[in-house]
Amino acid sequence: TLTDSDKAAVVALWGKIAPQANAIGAEALERLFLSYPQTKTYFSHFDLSHGSADLANHGGKVVNALGEAAKHINDLDAALSTLSDLHAYNLRVDPGNFKLLSHTIQVTLAIHFHKEFDAATHAAWDKFLAEVATVLTSKYR
Ligand code: HEM
Repeated sequence: TLTDSDKAAVVALWGKIAPQANAIGAEALERLFLSYPQTKTYFSHFDLSHGSADLANHGGKVVNALGEAAKHINDLDAALSTLSDLHAYNLRVDPGNFKLLSHTIQVTLAIHFHKEFDAATHAAWDKFLAEVATVLTSKYR
């Protein structure tokens, strides 16, 4: 579970991410699709080429959803309820894919915020992304 200092570290880095949400999200998705090509099957209706509008738009949606989660870090279940329904009932994304996306988000954060993304902030984001994934995959059965 997230400690108070984990929560503070998540919220602090979110402040740096927010102005670049689309770019950060697009890069995390591009890394996901290049490193784990099987994840592309969920996005056959998207243009996944480098620099595409689909990558920027969807990347922005994913990262801004993390921002909403950071704002409601003490009540993730309620904050992510609609998204949880969507991923479980409509999209049926295999839960293992959330670990892959969490990883490419962390790689992207490390590259863009290498000074702020120290070991403690890294650990805090790893826990935060795992908690988000747990909520988004909690309604599968
Ligand atoms: C849609 C967030 C993980 C596949 C979305 C949307 C958001 C979102 C905000 C848009 C919802 C809307 O339009 O109302 C997240 C977050 C994730 C996550 C925060 C974890 C950190 C994943 C994973 C996959 C995935 C791991 C599959 C590899 C999809 C698909 C859509 C979607 C296929 C619909 C895209 C479309 O047709 O517009 N997600 N997602 N998501 N997500 Fe996720």
